[in-house]
Amino acid sequence: MERKAFIKHPLVHLFHIFFLSHLVFCQLDYRFYGSTCPNLTKIVRYGVWSAIANDTRMAASLIRLHFHDCFVNGCDGSILLDDVGSTFVGEKTAMPNQNSVRGYEVIDRIKADVEKFCPSTVSCTDILTLAARDAATIAGARYWMVALGRRDGRTANKTAANQLPSPFESLDNIISKFNSKGLDTKDVVVLSGAHTIGFAQCFTFKHRLFNFGGSGKPDPDLETSFLKGLQNVCPDQTDSDSTLVALDSPTTNRFDNGYYRNLVNSSGLLQSDHVLSTDNRTASMVVNYSKYPYLFLKDFGASMVKMANIGVLTGQDGEIRKDCKVVN
Ligand code: HEM
Ligand SMILES: *[C@@H]1O[C@H](CO)[C@@H](O)[C@H](O)[C@H]1NC(C)=O
Ligand SMILES: *[C@@H]1O[C@H](CO)[C@@H](O)[C@H](O)[C@H]1NC(C)=O
Ligand SMILES: *[C@@H]1O[C@H](CO)[C@@H](O)[C@H](O)[C@H]1NC(C)=O
Ligand SMILES: *[C@@H]1O[C@H](CO)[C@@H](O)[C@H](O)[C@H]1NC(C)=O
Ligand SMILES: *[C@@H]1O[C@H](CO)[C@@H](O)[C@H](O)[C@H]1NC(C)=O
Ligand SMILES: *[C@@H]1O[C@H](CO)[C@@H](O)[C@H](O)[C@H]1NC(C)=O
Repeated sequence: MERKAFIKHPLVHLFHIFFLSHLVFCQLDYRFYGSTCPNLTKIVRYGVWSAIANDTRMAASLIRLHFHDCFVNGCDGSILLDDVGSTFVGEKTAMPNQNSVRGYEVIDRIKADVEKFCPSTVSCTDILTLAARDAATIAGARYWMVALGRRDGRTANKTAANQLPSPFESLDNIISKFNSKGLDTKDVVVLSGAHTIGFAQCFTFKHRLFNFGGSGKPDPDLETSFLKGLQNVCPDQTDSDSTLVALDSPTTNRFDNGYYRNLVNSSGLLQSDHVLSTDNRTASMVVNYSKYPYLFLKDFGASMVKMANIGVLTGQDGEIRKDCKVVN
């Protein structure tokens, strides 16, 4: 009797771990494609590496693509879907995405490579999640593990994409948008640190340069020489609206804590960045990350994992798209 109970006990545990957790809770799993697509991580990493080798900015663009995927309908690859005539409205033409989000063709190319080895097996949103991680680490971020098993959505929501956090809105609004996705104020500060790489168009911060809040003067919080430089690159006329400026000009392509060092030096580019260093809910974290690069890199991975779990479809929900641009 005693012996029987002893044997049964671990089996019950195994049953719970291997079956119930999948079938009942549909959790993501680090080894989700371990047997069905063993080379997945290599294929993705190579695709991301070659895209960045060709175009350094692509590291930043892939991270942002993943953010804009996860904040609309959850991480379901909805941002990757093209419009189809008037019958299907995608998210690519939403204001925050159009002429701004980049990297769609990189994900499409990696997906095509993955399909050669593992047809109809790996979701587009999992590929994008891995690609964002790889892009960040190639640029200098610390590695983090990505659990897999997300499935692709069959719908998109352009209205929701138009409500992605904007550089013109208040920190209160931005925090509540993050909260509605299960992310907290710390995640706002940490994930904004992605602005340590990549570029912004002049129109996203030009209101700070010449007539801030109708004052007829620049934002008094902008450091003088930083302001002068921006006024030169982004003169007060509409033809400079789409000119690109580095989000972190001292170390543009390096994934480091330079973003926070800029913020404490009144050299944050976007209004939504700058406010993190003045609001008492976030300022102490900004100072912390400006001093401790390792702390930022560690926390960044943790917040990216949280973001990658927003509203994921698992189990039988959604689908595994064959082409990331169209539902099957
Ligand atoms: C907190 C709210 C956020 C606001 C208001 C915001 C706003 C912006 C804006 C306005 C741009 C420039 C777009 C353009 O000029 O075309 C930008 C670029 C970028 N954002 Fe954010 N962002 C936010 C959060 C995030 C998050 C959470 C991430 C990722 C974790 C992220 C990653 C990036 C990256 C990497 C770029 C550069 C992209 C490139 O060069 O292609 N941002 N963001
Ligand atoms: C994985 O890649 C290795 C080479 O890196 C190759 O030999 C092997 O056949 C690939 N396996 C699959 C299942 O594609
Ligand atoms: C390389 O990058 C340029 C933009 O800098 C882009 O136009 C081109 O399509 C890219 N080529 C490849 C093979 O990715
Ligand atoms: C799309 O997003 C908007 C704004 O978040 C929401 O009100 C609406 O219900 C969504 N539509 C669908 C079909 O989910
Ligand atoms: C602050 O920014 C200015 C101009 O960008 C630069 O000259 C100065 O060295 C910076 N100070 C620190 C402490 O980074
Ligand atoms: C921030 O300041 C306000 C008043 O200025 C105060 O009520 C609040 O408790 C402060 N919050 C923190 C986190 O220090
Ligand atoms: C600053 O960093 C330390 C760890 O280095 C941490 O214990 C502390 O809570 C952080 N403070 C803030 C406000 O983030």
